[in-house]
Amino acid sequence: MRVLVTGGAGYIGSHACVELAGRGHELVLVDNFSNSSPLVAGRLATLTGREPELHRADLRDRAAVDGLFKGRGIDAVIHFAALKAVGDSCRRPLDYFDNNIGGTIHLLQAMRAHGVGRLVFSSSATVYGDPDGVPVREDAPLRVTNPYGRTKLVMEQLIGDLCTSDPGFRAVNLRYFNPVGAHPSGLIGEAPGGVPDNLMPYVCQVAVGLRERLAVFGGDWPTVDGTGVRDYIHVMDLARAHADALDFLVRGHRSASINLGTGQGTSVLQLVRAFERASGRAVPYEIVDRRPGDVAEVYADPSLAHRLLGWRAEHDIDAMCRDAWHWQSRNPGGYADGPAAPGGAAAS
Ligand code: NAD
Ligand code: WQD
Repeated sequence: MRVLVTGGAGYIGSHACVELAGRGHELVLVDNFSNSSPLVAGRLATLTGREPELHRADLRDRAAVDGLFKGRGIDAVIHFAALKAVGDSCRRPLDYFDNNIGGTIHLLQAMRAHGVGRLVFSSSATVYGDPDGVPVREDAPLRVTNPYGRTKLVMEQLIGDLCTSDPGFRAVNLRYFNPVGAHPSGLIGEAPGGVPDNLMPYVCQVAVGLRERLAVFGGDWPTVDGTGVRDYIHVMDLARAHADALDFLVRGHRSASINLGTGQGTSVLQLVRAFERASGRAVPYEIVDRRPGDVAEVYADPSLAHRLLGWRAEHDIDAMCRDAWHWQSRNPGGYADGPAAPGGAAAS
């Protein structure tokens, strides 16, 4: 198939592109590089053996989005492009609604106009907010707690309404839990700008010497060791699920919302120890106050993904830490710092 990948230069999108190319799909990537680097194109060329067709465009530009579909014979869309930082979304909610929902509306309008009826959408476990219990199933109540989460919920609802109104339009919402890790080559990975919000990139930056110590947000949660528990999922497992979701749509199945997690909870301190084992580096930390908005324990019931997609996570926390460290140690400052890759960026 010819697949349009929005946000294809980003962390999860770039890994999905490697998996999709490996399964023989032809890819058209679009990104505005608001949170990524055009240098990813060269790395993707190395990994897939082919220069990606990568367009610089903003999904808020309706004409540009429509233009991506013209004459390209797009069969399906995987929609990663979004702003994703919870704290940032509390500071500038309008930008999040404009970018995430506005961009998605243009994308869906262009899909309808060009008769493209298959969508895989990057949703998030954030739609469950503070769940009543774990493991979390897809039929748990949806109640978001911040503007970023609200944009994800509204986008799921928007996509759901479109599927109801048009039997020719089908979508899979993939609700990721906590994506971490990197391609085992160390050529692509997560490259956050500024101070990382998320645990794994912060731990990586401490281990590589960019930051002094990790602040552990709370040591008094009602969990195994008092620190927060999450369901970390290797980005290569996530990547595989996107290709599986496309196959699911091609087989003609109805729309669905599906959790992507391992089903295993890992505490902050368990992750720190696993990372120390994998990297051979010490990760100094101190326990500080809880972070506002955090919850004690969230992990997935991933059984629907197995039933519908035949998908299961294959990587454990040790593999996640090993690959995150491999990427970080080869590219201490992100893409600009890494080993030179053949081929230039093909951004148009
Ligand atoms: P990312 O920021 O690395 O990737 C998103 C990409 O989209 C970036 O390259 C960015 O430049 C691009 N983009 C943003 N707005 C755009 C616009 N208007 N037009 C064109 N390009 C635009 O983030 P990621 O971690 O790869 O996340 C991918 C998707 O998965 C997002 O939708 C995110 O909300 C969702 N998600 C991420 C996580 C996580 O923890 N990483 C968890 C759950 C869900
Ligand atoms: C994990 C654990 C923290 C940083 C967020 C979003 C969610 C989704 C994934 C997009 C928690 C603790 C963290 C640090 C710490 N994103 N921690 N010190 O909060 O589960 O989920 O990313 O959809 O929407 O909310 O992930 O990595 O920030 O935190 O102690 O410096 O690590 O308290 O227990 P979170 P996280």
